[in-house]
Amino acid sequence: MPTAKLLLDHQEIDFPVTIGSEGEVGIDIARLRAQTGIITFDPGYGNTGSCESAITYIDGEKGVLHHRGYSIEELAEKSSFVEVSYLLVYGKLPTRRELDHFTHRLTYHSMLHEDMKKFFEGFPPSAHPMSVLSTMVASLSAYYPNSDVEEDIDRNIIRLLAKLKTIAAFSYKKSIGQPYIYPRNDLDFVGDFLHMLFAVPPEPYEISDVIRDALDMLLILHADHEQNCSTSTVRMVGSSGADLFSTISAGISALSGPLHGGANQAVIQMLENIRADGGDYAKYIEKAKDKNDPFRLMGFGHRVYKNFDPRARLIKRVADRVLARLGHHDPLLDIAKHLERIALEDEYFIERKLFPNLDFYSGIVYRAMEVPTNMFTVLFAMGRLPGWIAQWKEMHDQKSRIHRPRQIYTGPTARPYTSIDER
Ligand code: CMC
Repeated sequence: MPTAKLLLDHQEIDFPVTIGSEGEVGIDIARLRAQTGIITFDPGYGNTGSCESAITYIDGEKGVLHHRGYSIEELAEKSSFVEVSYLLVYGKLPTRRELDHFTHRLTYHSMLHEDMKKFFEGFPPSAHPMSVLSTMVASLSAYYPNSDVEEDIDRNIIRLLAKLKTIAAFSYKKSIGQPYIYPRNDLDFVGDFLHMLFAVPPEPYEISDVIRDALDMLLILHADHEQNCSTSTVRMVGSSGADLFSTISAGISALSGPLHGGANQAVIQMLENIRADGGDYAKYIEKAKDKNDPFRLMGFGHRVYKNFDPRARLIKRVADRVLARLGHHDPLLDIAKHLERIALEDEYFIERKLFPNLDFYSGIVYRAMEVPTNMFTVLFAMGRLPGWIAQWKEMHDQKSRIHRPRQIYTGPTARPYTSIDER
């Protein structure tokens, strides 16, 4: 078993080394502070492994993404979002019988408690659907209490997977003042969501196969991404023993930020600004490079991928296909492609290994589906849900310790309290 050595003020300390199934190496410093009194310092956790996990593998240098050993390319082409959800949560591809049973449960748990409609009514129409989503998910814990019994935990997992799309669609209907459309058991998972989102009571709504297939694939591409900000939040909050719904609500809040899932909305806003400003791409590339300008090229860069984001490649293809099949021309797609081309040839972006991430083109596809911009991050949350649940479940099964990082204190040293008249 290999070990790592630390030389600290002439004291030599050995640490065990953990090696993952794909050869990743981690120095196990669990006893560092007990042995030496010191801690590691890693702001932003770029070098810190917080857990062992058998769910998702990423090789950021090679642009590799696997879920439970299956490549994202194969899953996107051959699987469905419901099947990938099963794979993530239960650790294996389902048999036909298991998939039918899982699908049946997701279908029959999709209604919300009728009283929850009153909560939606309390939000102002201007409320961001992500705020509504995190609030409504947290409120599910009032209806379906926490339990340590295995079957109860599983039932709550199914409830959450089934109800999130209903909450998402209701939050949209609320924001535009249309009546809520209830889930339908005769529709498939993605078709049901589209129906709840776009149908109105006076007329039938025909679900487009092109849109349904594209959305199914987009949800697969968002399904998990190991220890990113929102997933780490889920593990952090869940480690305290908080219930599933409160924990996932925290993950949704973490996802909403523009540096994370909120980037898909921010990309479209950026492209629209560039268009309104006369389409001067070069000006915005210069702004992104200027350290005195807070502007960043949204949808560019990634903490882990340093060559290409495999999801972005797949989404770009979906964008081209969906626009062609729907016969749409989106001027924002042209701007996005120009920006990408210029950025990829620019020394600043090459040196820093910055290239489009999954959020760069996903908004273009959502626009083609006529999904409003403020719903984009909600769709990201719907896709990420099985990943969050799988990570929460794994942490739960591992009986993980409460997450509690340390710090380097930089405030004032001990001093006497002064009375208010002496200050
Ligand atoms: N535009 C311009 N410069 C950038 C950008 C960008 N989008 N991203 C990173 N840089 C620069 C950054 O200024 C820094 O330069 P320097 O070394 O000269 O100081 C260097 O590249 C490294 O950046 P960083 O901020 O240290 O990288 P990070 O790993 O901390 O941040 C990121 C990753 C994704 C937050 C960041 O690249 C970013 O803000 N991108 C735009 C927002 C975005 O698209 N987010 C979605 C991420 S993918 C989906 C998801 O996981 O949610």
